[in-house]
Amino acid sequence: MTLPHIAIDGPVASGKSTVALMVARRLNLLYIDTGAMYRVVALAALRDGVDLDDGEALAELPQRHQIDLKPAADARGYAVCLDGVDVTAQLFRGAVTAAVSTIAAQPQVRRVLVERQREIARHHAVVMAGRDIGTVVLPNAPFKVFLTASVAERVRRRLEEMRAAGSTIDAQTLREEVERRDHTDTTRAESPLVPAQGALVLDSSALSAEEVVDRIVSWVASSTAAGA
Ligand code: DC
Repeated sequence: MTLPHIAIDGPVASGKSTVALMVARRLNLLYIDTGAMYRVVALAALRDGVDLDDGEALAELPQRHQIDLKPAADARGYAVCLDGVDVTAQLFRGAVTAAVSTIAAQPQVRRVLVERQREIARHHAVVMAGRDIGTVVLPNAPFKVFLTASVAERVRRRLEEMRAAGSTIDAQTLREEVERRDHTDTTRAESPLVPAQGALVLDSSALSAEEVVDRIVSWVASSTAAGA
């Protein structure tokens, strides 16, 4: 049986987490932010003092620690527990954000996390957000979306979000950080960020999150009706 999975990929701050959560809530599907899985491995690595380039040691972390993702009714839509403790807020701080791209470039880490992501999708209809969901994790998903936006717009959105959370980061530093992560994510040898074949490519630079969600939900509804 093919579950009606929706894969949403895109670069940093393209709005995919916001959009994926809204689509999941509209269609009553489970929302999985795979970025959070890479982030919690990064947090565990920093805590355990594991070398960020040691793929073998990093890949053992999800086995050595208990990692749980649970749906939540808040704005993020989920909570992540590491060894039974809610660490969600820590996943989005500077140290983890600075380390995560390096970790996500390690093939051994990707193998372990991709298998976990597929296991979740075997049991649930999901809206899964990430960088390689349509290309690698769920290549047979019936709905694949590649969400993008200009660098200027992505920096503007992320700056607003970070300032609201109390950060004093300046626009230029943030732009450099976004460009550095874009570069790492799109040029890595293992599962680089590219649109999947057949993906609906949406540039959200001039669209609100609601408008993006409406387009995805209409696409899913019309395809489902056409196939019914
Ligand atoms: O979406 P995010 O910013 O929380 O992702 C954190 C990092 O993890 C980012 O550098 C890209 C990487 N990532 C990945 O390589 N593959 C995924 N499926 C999800 C995230």
